[in-house]
Amino acid sequence: MASNCVRVERDGELALIVAHNPPVNTITAEVRAGLADALREVRADRSLRAVVLMCEGSTFFSGADIGEFSGPPREVEYRVLFNSLEGLEIPVIAAMHGTVMGGGLEIALASHYRIAAPATRFALPEVTLGIIPGAGGTQRLPRLIGAEKALELILSAKPVAAQQALDMGFVDALIAEDVRTGALAFARDLLGAGRGVRRTGEMSVDMATASDAMFQRMTELARKSYPNRGAGLVAVDAVRKSAHSRLAEGLEYETARVNECKTTAESRGAVHVFFAERDSRRVPGLPEDLRAAPVREAGVIGAGTMGGGIAICFANAGIPVKLVDASDASLERGVAGIEKVYQSMVDRGRLSPADKAQRIGLIQTSLDYQSLKNADVVVEAVFEDLDLKQRIFRKLDAVAKPGAVLATNTSTLDIALIADATSRPGDVIGMHFFSPANVMPLLEVVRTDRTSAATIKTVMELAKPLRKTPVLARVCYGFIGNRMMEGYAREAERMVLEGATPRQVDTALEAWGMAMGILAVFDMAGIDVGVNVHKANATRYPPDPTYYQADFALSDAGRLGQKNGRGYYRYEPGSRSRFDDPEAIQVLRRRATELQVPQRSHSVTEIQERCLFPLLNEAFHVLGEGVATRAADIDVVWTSGYGFPRYRGGPVFYAETIGLGTLLDGMRRYAEIFGPMHWTPAPLLVELVDRGISVAEWEGGQRSKRASA
Ligand SMILES: NC(=O)c1ccc[n+]([C@@H]2O[C@H](COP(=O)([O-])OP(=O)(O)OC[C@H]3O[C@@H](n4cnc5c(N)ncnc54)[C@H](O)[C@@H]3O)[C@@H](O)[C@H]2O)c1
Repeated sequence: MASNCVRVERDGELALIVAHNPPVNTITAEVRAGLADALREVRADRSLRAVVLMCEGSTFFSGADIGEFSGPPREVEYRVLFNSLEGLEIPVIAAMHGTVMGGGLEIALASHYRIAAPATRFALPEVTLGIIPGAGGTQRLPRLIGAEKALELILSAKPVAAQQALDMGFVDALIAEDVRTGALAFARDLLGAGRGVRRTGEMSVDMATASDAMFQRMTELARKSYPNRGAGLVAVDAVRKSAHSRLAEGLEYETARVNECKTTAESRGAVHVFFAERDSRRVPGLPEDLRAAPVREAGVIGAGTMGGGIAICFANAGIPVKLVDASDASLERGVAGIEKVYQSMVDRGRLSPADKAQRIGLIQTSLDYQSLKNADVVVEAVFEDLDLKQRIFRKLDAVAKPGAVLATNTSTLDIALIADATSRPGDVIGMHFFSPANVMPLLEVVRTDRTSAATIKTVMELAKPLRKTPVLARVCYGFIGNRMMEGYAREAERMVLEGATPRQVDTALEAWGMAMGILAVFDMAGIDVGVNVHKANATRYPPDPTYYQADFALSDAGRLGQKNGRGYYRYEPGSRSRFDDPEAIQVLRRRATELQVPQRSHSVTEIQERCLFPLLNEAFHVLGEGVATRAADIDVVWTSGYGFPRYRGGPVFYAETIGLGTLLDGMRRYAEIFGPMHWTPAPLLVELVDRGISVAEWEGGQRSKRASA
């Protein structure tokens, strides 16, 4: 394949192989073909004395092409290419900048020398995708820095800075000037010092770093860091192999093991989420030529918990924002909160004091709605009260410029009713941020039947500078995420009334993979917050006298969660560690007796199934009713907003992993025990099982129906 993205330049007796594959120099098939051609050219020229490998644009090779993941294995192709680079008879210097990850770092390891700009960052993130570095990483890195440090880097999967890489020993020097000048100077110095090729593959692993005890420690680390997963353990095996084998044999082993990894549910789940997140921004059915309106100025109404966080998101994106509240006191409180967030970033070295000042400077406060007249987008985040929100949207309608997006951050209210308060319902949309809004990546974008395509497009695109993963939903109670939370939380609360302890429930959920048990989440959010939502929505709850009664019992007993040190658990002042609390258990037991809840014992499996099956079942309601556009969007919502493990692929992916028939049987099994009120399978789940088709096949059918309609 001819390549337009790799060229060879000459500088006297030095060659530069320069890649240019925007935006991030991914090692695509075309880049590999170009590199192979370039190596042939360099090898044929006997007058050359050294080669510099570098990239133009924002970064050195950022990694392999993950888009090829689902196709045939490419490891052998990578291996041949990287071996051929390493096999050159003249020194090869990788000159790096930007973010060098995975395959990008592996090509550098196959080079003879490595130099980097000081701001360069390096990572081998493969284990988070359920695989191991498969282009020589597990074999070459230990040869350069020892088995222990190599495994630390591979298992942490986190980026390290250039100085750390230098200290660890896989970077030889930092470049002060621009990469090209620095690399050429380094090459000349190298030749001047009479140094030649230095092949990583010909080195052996320092056995002092590769003791059995060290591998045992790393095995434990892999188990602890990646529970329910195998890739970390495979990485330990592969690095162990590097210590005892020649490169060629180690590479064969690595290839076999990485390909084995790719077939696991853990890898397929993580890769599914990766693509689902990439695609969530694209909304099927919007006109091709529709362009997002530029957002040059924003407004936020309500300077509370959410409004402050949302204002920070705009300021971080460089978008000036007007923050409006009803009183000076509220504004002052809001600004103090914003200041605190930025100061903690400065304290942790994440932000310079100058950048903090610049960002805070972008946020201007006001009591006057007129200050919103130039905003391209206004996000309302006042108390959760329909009357209040309608009043605010009426005022906003009077001042906002034509075409401005009028968004609400409501979690539970009917956005169509909020839109009705304006003369421009097409411009009204939900932007449902999650708390803390400046941290959580998920943004549910909620459209009503009247929201215009242009409004949807603008908000989906705005998510990018705001650094959010947007998922489009239709209006319904709880949208996608909170709606699916209902059954999950209901069962957790019901089980503590049936005699399970909060710790038993949370431990079972965390062992399955949830980031935090749901009862601990409630303690963190505030039991009273939950109770207020339950009260406001009591009329739409099913006729079950035990519904959310664990929350009510705790709140009646003055247990509000972490905020007063007592909830489902007990907390020491200033600490988030949870302790079992016999008093909480007594409160729950008393309420269970009053409600005559039959007591039972709960196996770990029962706890997991009773929480997860309703959650997965609800996903099929959400999909079947068209609240979510795509099954993959549901998976994004729960993995990015609710701590659902990425390696399980999200609720719908996981339902298919265990089998839709298993889920349906499970729902029916629990219906026999507890009755049909909460355990009726979603019609779509029944349909898919009856027809014996997958979710993807059903979605394909829906698309063809729409196309022919
Ligand atoms: N807290 C969360 O976890 C969370 C998550 C997602 C969505 N939400 C939603 O975000 C919205 C705000 O929630 P919050 O937790 O930030 O509430 P909050 O109580 O912390 O803040 C609300 C703010 O709105 C201000 N306000 C009240 N009336 C006003 C008016 N007439 N004009 C201007 N400002 C006014 C208040 O002074 C206060 O500063 C709610 O709709 C809530 O459902 C909250």
